[in-house]
Amino acid sequence: MITAMMVTGVLCALIAPSTQKIFMPPDARESESSYWLEQGRRELQEALEQPRLTNKAKNVILFLATVWMGITALTAGRILKGQKKGNSGEEESLVWDRFSNMGMLKTYNLDRQVPDSAATATAFLSGVKGNYLTLGVNGNVKSQDCAASLQRENQVSTILEWAQDAGKDTGVVSTAQVTHATPAALYAKTPYRYWQCDAAITRAGPDALPCKDIARQLVEDNPGRGMKVIMGGGRQEMGAGQETDVKQKCVRADGRDLVQEWREARASEGASAAYLTTTEELRNVNARDTDYIMGLFGDLHVPYELDRDRSGAGTPHIKDMVKVALQRLKRSDNGFFLMVEGGRIDHGLHHGMPHRALEELLAMEEAVTETLQGVDLEETLVVVTADHSHVMTMNGYPARGNDIFGKVMNEEDVSDHLPYTTLMFTNGEGFNYTWNGTEVIRRNLTNVDTTDKDFRPLAAVPTYKGSETHGGEDVAVYANGPMAHLFHRVHEQSYVAHVMGYAACIGPYSDCDRPAHKTQYKHVNNHNHHHDDDDDDDGDEGGKYGGKGKYGKGVSGSGGVVVSSGAVVLWWCVVVSRLLW
Ligand SMILES: *[C@@H]1O[C@H](CO)[C@@H](O)[C@H](O)[C@H]1NC(C)=O
Ligand SMILES: *[C@@H]1O[C@H](CO)[C@@H](O)[C@H](O)[C@H]1NC(C)=O
Ligand SMILES: *[C@@H]1O[C@H](CO)[C@@H](O)[C@H](O)[C@H]1NC(C)=O
Ligand SMILES: [Zn+2]
Repeated sequence: MITAMMVTGVLCALIAPSTQKIFMPPDARESESSYWLEQGRRELQEALEQPRLTNKAKNVILFLATVWMGITALTAGRILKGQKKGNSGEEESLVWDRFSNMGMLKTYNLDRQVPDSAATATAFLSGVKGNYLTLGVNGNVKSQDCAASLQRENQVSTILEWAQDAGKDTGVVSTAQVTHATPAALYAKTPYRYWQCDAAITRAGPDALPCKDIARQLVEDNPGRGMKVIMGGGRQEMGAGQETDVKQKCVRADGRDLVQEWREARASEGASAAYLTTTEELRNVNARDTDYIMGLFGDLHVPYELDRDRSGAGTPHIKDMVKVALQRLKRSDNGFFLMVEGGRIDHGLHHGMPHRALEELLAMEEAVTETLQGVDLEETLVVVTADHSHVMTMNGYPARGNDIFGKVMNEEDVSDHLPYTTLMFTNGEGFNYTWNGTEVIRRNLTNVDTTDKDFRPLAAVPTYKGSETHGGEDVAVYANGPMAHLFHRVHEQSYVAHVMGYAACIGPYSDCDRPAHKTQYKHVNNHNHHHDDDDDDDGDEGGKYGGKGKYGKGVSGSGGVVVSSGAVVLWWCVVVSRLLW
């Protein structure tokens, strides 16, 4: 009896959530000076030998970690990656940590200090900043101002159009709806990101009626209809919903099935098209012999990586979507532009659930790793960035190797002597204080499993469901490949589109005489006239690098943009977690 109680007690102590796992550093030599002296020397050498590629980018790959690629998410995601291997985690690297160049981006919208995903995506895809909640339009258009958005001069062209004008194949892969803010910024012009289906416009009133919903812009207009690969969620907005119990967010009132219309339009052009809704269909599609591929893997978004059905009838990993997209796009002789968005990192955070969000981040990282193996970095610009941050922070003085979802066990440091989690939010659903008759107190987490995927850390200010807000601090941008070194300091977010366009010689930068073959510039001992002052400020990029005053050149016309050997692969791997709301 007593033995049984003891055994039970020991077992319970072992599995009790209050006993936290501490992961160990992978290299025991790190307590020796020599370890760090050697490590630093190696890294210096790498920096000194860092080549700069100054040829025309054949491919531009942009990974966009939408929402939640704030610095905190990157650090926490890196630690999670290491801890999943059984290590302490802090010493781990995410694949983009080793990219050759990086910078910081200012994410504000023209009318907001803290931005939304629509205006930020407009900035990094068109090179022009706009107002909160607007897509594909400049600062003359305020949210929901339909009339202003319809004026041609207020509409901006995006890298999707630049790439198509240059004869490149284009595509988008997202885990959010294909009509959600980030993908929509590629092709839609609208004063309000939530006008994803016609019913939303009708609800907005008569002034909104002249505006076309985002789903229709995708299938009816250029450049949306010209995309060779469209993958994500969003069957509901497209009028092709399947799930009976799914939440009704934007159901078409016009009864149109835009997927069917898209297929018929492709057939009438004599092109082959495939429409996919499951992992099995994705596996079986012949990407080497199909002109157009549309995959819609959710009525709303594609399910979270932690929740998805992994069977053939279920939904794919973002990596598998990217693989098929690349198979299709790499067939293009002129190169391609692909944007990949990890769209649910954002959602996990809006719901105050770090575990879900960080697993999405690592899923996107796998997609980046896989992509790097399949492209030639001497002809492919790969950019990884985020649209904005979130209000999650990493706090306390947890022990090295402490579970990243675990608790800070330094209760003596805080005045209420209660444990708290390393990851916490300044606002969100995790708000949880009570009044005990004399004082405001917070939940005692001692016996709570804070590593659960549904656990919500404490938030200082309460929000409505799924409405934890974005954060306003800068985000990082990482780059590899031709012209990666043009990311070198703090930039406006809109600068990203300029670097991609310049690297690939498309859009405003299509007047370009750089060779497509590899030209290497090493900044220590091999200066050339294009880069004779790389340490100085870059206030005049156009003059310095291009020499032909290309900025501001009209890009709407499709004539004259010839990128002979350029395959522009613009991969926006947007780990942009979508705005949930
Ligand atoms: C309320 O909490 C405070 C701090 O833990 C404690 O000192 C006080 O006794 C509590 N009051 C009641 C009525 O439980
Ligand atoms: C708040 O704390 C109570 C226990 O004190 C717990 O039952 C509840 O789930 C918590 N709510 C949230 C939103 O964390
Ligand atoms: C928190 O809960 C643990 C376990 O029940 C308990 O030992 C501890 O005294 C509690 N702390 C406070 C400050 O109430
Ligand atoms: Zn968001």
